[in-house]
Amino acid sequence: MQAREVLEISKIIPVITIDDLKTSIDLAQALAKGGIKILEITLRTKEALEAINLISQEMPDIIVGAGTILNAKMLEQAKNAGAKFAISPGLNAIFAKEAKAIDLPLIPGVTTAGELMLALEFDLKNLKFFPAESSGGIQTLKSFLAPFSSVKFCPTGGINLNNIKEYLTLKNVACVGGSWLTPKELIINKQWDEITQIAQKSLARSQ
Ligand code: 3PG
Repeated sequence: MQAREVLEISKIIPVITIDDLKTSIDLAQALAKGGIKILEITLRTKEALEAINLISQEMPDIIVGAGTILNAKMLEQAKNAGAKFAISPGLNAIFAKEAKAIDLPLIPGVTTAGELMLALEFDLKNLKFFPAESSGGIQTLKSFLAPFSSVKFCPTGGINLNNIKEYLTLKNVACVGGSWLTPKELIINKQWDEITQIAQKSLARSQ
């Protein structure tokens, strides 16, 4: 799979942090029931790699990727766990080379023109715009359109039900990502129907 295909699977990529492996399938099923087709599981907890493996095995129709990848070693761990793509908050040369070497589609985070130029040096044209809201949001993305017309973005960081529509109308935005679909409280209380409803509402708003 190519990074562009990853960004075009769905208008919405939930960013999930797994604290309890036992409920990871319930969570993924609640999202899938709401129409979600792709998940980013952040490597912020010790359960993350196992969760990527488990959900990939149990739910083959869902595309599972790894997020919060901070170094080359984590890229390899993600690939070995079965991640179909990797998302990172930022980019550097070591990292970009490693992603290419292990053939894992990388969607690195950028916020500035200089970072975009570094990404293009490595032929990376499918990028996360992170942290979106605190980096100028819609206005910054509009400014990137003319000089970086070949680039598509997945803005994350501060995205929610109230602003997804506005981001998705931009020509250089393929999809949006974020944690608003999986509030911690709802996961702890196993309120799966509520999570399904947030997913449905988000996808309806993304049309
Ligand atoms: C990410 O890792 O992409 C962001 O932390 C998601 O940001 P959010 O929590 O504001 O949605």
